[in-house]
Amino acid sequence: MSKRVLVTAALPYANGSIHLGHLLEFIQTDVYVRARKQAGEDCVFMWADDTHGTPIQMRARREGITPEELVARAYDEHRADFDDFKIGYDIFYTTHSEENRKHAEAIFSTMEAKGDIATRSVEQLYCPHDEMFLPDRFVKGICPKCKSADQYGDNCEVCGSTYSPTDLGEPHCSICSSTPVLRDSEHLFVPLARHEEFLRQWLRAPADGGTTILQDSVRNYVMGWVDDGLRDWDISRDAPYFGFEVPGHPGKYFYVWFDAPIGYIAATDKWCADGGHDFDAYWKSDAETTEIVHVIGKDIVYFHCLFWPAMLHAGGYNTPSRVQVHGWLTVNGEKMSKTRGTFVLARTYLDQLPAEYLRYYFAAKLGQNQEDIDLNFEDFVNRVNAELVKKAANLASRSVKFITGRLGGTVGDLLSDAQPLVERAQQRLRDAPAMFANFESARVMRMAIEVAEDFNLYLTEGAPWKLSSSDPERARAICSAGIYATQVVAALLKPVLPDWAAKVERFLKLPAPLDFSTGAVPLPGGHALGEYETLAEPIKPEAIEAIIEASKETMGATTEPETAAAANADYTVPDLESEIAFDQFTPIDLRVGKVLACTKVEGSKKLLQFTVDLGPLGPRNIFSGIARSFEPEGLVGQHVMVVANLAPRKMKFGLSEGMILVAGDDDPGLTMPTLDPKTSKPGERIT
Ligand code: 2FM
Ligand code: ZN
Repeated sequence: MSKRVLVTAALPYANGSIHLGHLLEFIQTDVYVRARKQAGEDCVFMWADDTHGTPIQMRARREGITPEELVARAYDEHRADFDDFKIGYDIFYTTHSEENRKHAEAIFSTMEAKGDIATRSVEQLYCPHDEMFLPDRFVKGICPKCKSADQYGDNCEVCGSTYSPTDLGEPHCSICSSTPVLRDSEHLFVPLARHEEFLRQWLRAPADGGTTILQDSVRNYVMGWVDDGLRDWDISRDAPYFGFEVPGHPGKYFYVWFDAPIGYIAATDKWCADGGHDFDAYWKSDAETTEIVHVIGKDIVYFHCLFWPAMLHAGGYNTPSRVQVHGWLTVNGEKMSKTRGTFVLARTYLDQLPAEYLRYYFAAKLGQNQEDIDLNFEDFVNRVNAELVKKAANLASRSVKFITGRLGGTVGDLLSDAQPLVERAQQRLRDAPAMFANFESARVMRMAIEVAEDFNLYLTEGAPWKLSSSDPERARAICSAGIYATQVVAALLKPVLPDWAAKVERFLKLPAPLDFSTGAVPLPGGHALGEYETLAEPIKPEAIEAIIEASKETMGATTEPETAAAANADYTVPDLESEIAFDQFTPIDLRVGKVLACTKVEGSKKLLQFTVDLGPLGPRNIFSGIARSFEPEGLVGQHVMVVANLAPRKMKFGLSEGMILVAGDDDPGLTMPTLDPKTSKPGERIT
């Protein structure tokens, strides 16, 4: 009996737009699912938005909307992006659902009843003003190692050291700036060590077809974590928290990473209830009849390969059969960058180019390993133009147009000299399903292009255009080989290029939808073709330029609509400092500074390095931890406000000789007050 296959991609957070980095994974997952369906397997793609946790709660608060409103907005935006990128999920649901609450509670309660939950008091920073415990990233202060100011509670972006928020000097709440206090709070933990034996056995177990649950390299480092000793996992957070309250523990909420993967189960539950499918068969059955496959990035291996199987095992659900880990997306060989315009949102790409070109490029690069995948724009254009347009689409276009234009529109039987090529194409169709099912789409894309190359050569050598009057039947037979190749290529490409395949099905008037078997059978002599539809057109360099330009412009804007906070003034600002006398202000020497140069600092995500001209006072070198809020080029030439008599501070990257004033609490989201360069002069005093 063939297995039921349930596939998931990581659930995107509901507080951000979808970008090409996400799409690498979602396209990989979609191609895998479509290919297994195309091979006749019972395969479903269960998916959702990841909606809970502090960042979403804070984001909603900043925008002056409820978390529910924020999540609903993201849901619509995400779905539109996925639909336009042809991601063929069977359901896209949400973790903020009753089904998710039900399964999270069920798993927790089962674990608690079995002694799989421990409680312990944790000392944490608490903001009396905001009345909440502060997660690490919501506390800022002076780095205990290098003494740099304004560092987050978990690590210093200047010297790179890691520490706990309680180690920070002069800690302050990053929401309201007030000083937090230490408070004890009871937290709930999963003592993972209780599941060590199960985890070791799960990590070692072979999956179907000789493959293992994890790629070898992933299994090795996960096993390394187990060998190092499994620590208790803290699964609760204190109110206020956007999530589900823990049953039997008022005021405690499930940490977002507890209920996020349960979203896979909740989505299945909803899909089964709506469509009359058997939920238990997927998650509560004999694992022999069900395969659960997760596709994830390498940053969330810990959650999916330790916490998640342990939770499922302890909670009485089926455990994953396979976790496929991919690498990062780089663009033009580097990390995606808003400054360079390579942090491209899904919508920005779609505004310029068809989804299928990117789907092809990613599929043509993805394989079994977890190496990073580079989207090199020049290579992208070259490959799409050379492989899809010149080889695959051209083969279809010239064969179909010749038969419909000059030979009455019907195909003929193939010549015997085409037989070796036909057999090779058929072998490729037989090989493809296993490659796809092993995430080796690059190999299949290569095979599809090789089929196009083989038959293009056959057509070129046969030169049917020279035969249309002298031997039209031979010309028909040669072009019919091109038609055959068109259907084989489309069947191989179909999981990646569903629109392409649909066009081929239409214009070849195929008797059945293309799959790995139907694609292998040549059309009978006399079969009438339809009208050719363009399959692909060359990418023009301007489209890439427009994507890069628009990505520079959209920085920040897409995720931070200027809505509610400004309109309702429903946001908080720090309390006023205590009153000072005028002569306490005058020692602070503020000057007009003209930004002569501004660059990102290599090795720091946070810092910008400025050369600021203070006129007769000379230039200053200033480091400022505001890199997430500003494009360096945009600041050059601006007249800014500088605290000019601040004692110089030695930093890891050099000496900082002053401070540039900005408004706002958090980077990104800062504004830089500037002065009119026509009326202000560098060095003038600001009072
Ligand atoms: O890393 C992320 O983007 C998470 N939202 C992925 C969650 S996957 C699953 F566990 F829900
Ligand atoms: Zn606060």
